[in-house]
Amino acid sequence: MAMQIIRSVSDLEAFVGKTLGNGKTIGLVPTMGALHEGHLSLVKRAVAENDVALVSVFVNPTQFNNPVDLATYPRNEEEDFRLLAGEGVTAVFAPTVEEMYPEGTERDHEFDLGTAAEVMEGKFRPGHFQGVAQVVSRLFRLCRPTRAYFGEKDFQQIAVIRNMVDSEHIDVEIVPVPIKRADDGLALSSRNALLTEEQRKVAPEIHAALAYSVEYSKSHSVKATHDTVVERIDAVPHMNVEYFEIVDGRTLLPIDEWEESPDIVGCITVYCGKVRLIDNIRYK
Ligand code: PAF
Repeated sequence: MAMQIIRSVSDLEAFVGKTLGNGKTIGLVPTMGALHEGHLSLVKRAVAENDVALVSVFVNPTQFNNPVDLATYPRNEEEDFRLLAGEGVTAVFAPTVEEMYPEGTERDHEFDLGTAAEVMEGKFRPGHFQGVAQVVSRLFRLCRPTRAYFGEKDFQQIAVIRNMVDSEHIDVEIVPVPIKRADDGLALSSRNALLTEEQRKVAPEIHAALAYSVEYSKSHSVKATHDTVVERIDAVPHMNVEYFEIVDGRTLLPIDEWEESPDIVGCITVYCGKVRLIDNIRYK
């Protein structure tokens, strides 16, 4: 069957009502478009694990704390729809900002996102996670998915969305999907399209430094491991580490010793020229 393209909230509600009325499960993949293989790995899971796969394509203005970042965010709707149809997606929800936020983009309440939202991205992008919670909670209420799929490149986002789902009492299974990488190790991201040829050549150094640090961490302290990653990446032309934090994978709070937690992840944000790239690596 041809993929349905839904533009309005009322058509979406009709689609969801009919699907659930027929006893079918919905797998939702929320995206901001400019789709790549990373997104498609989420879409494949949603198609395989649910009766109906629904993908949203919406560049959410409320999660951008930088207007230039919002204006330059890559958009390619026609190509996105072509890729999604090829994956066997049942329907795409691609609303305008006015349709998504008929009462304006102002939030009517602050979400309780826990301490996980205050560190790292929370510190460097004030308001970002409130905006993510605003759009994702609205999508969950409209789409009523059984499962929702999120990429682990945005490791912190998954933790924050789990907290939002708990505090808003939304019944949905959050499914994390592993990072997809280019052959040279760079984590796939819509923002990679903004890199110049020269920046694209050096960007894989982010993952190379993180991967090296896993071996290094076996005989070095948390602080030495942290410093070796930052020094290696900062030494590369065009690259500037915004933060690198080695954290407990559940609380996202920084750790000082490897023995402190059974679940440890290093989360990094690097400016490659003006393009902000994020990545992470698991230590244990
Ligand atoms: O990860 C993203 O692309 C966005 O933050 C999301 C979850 C689609 C919300 O706009």
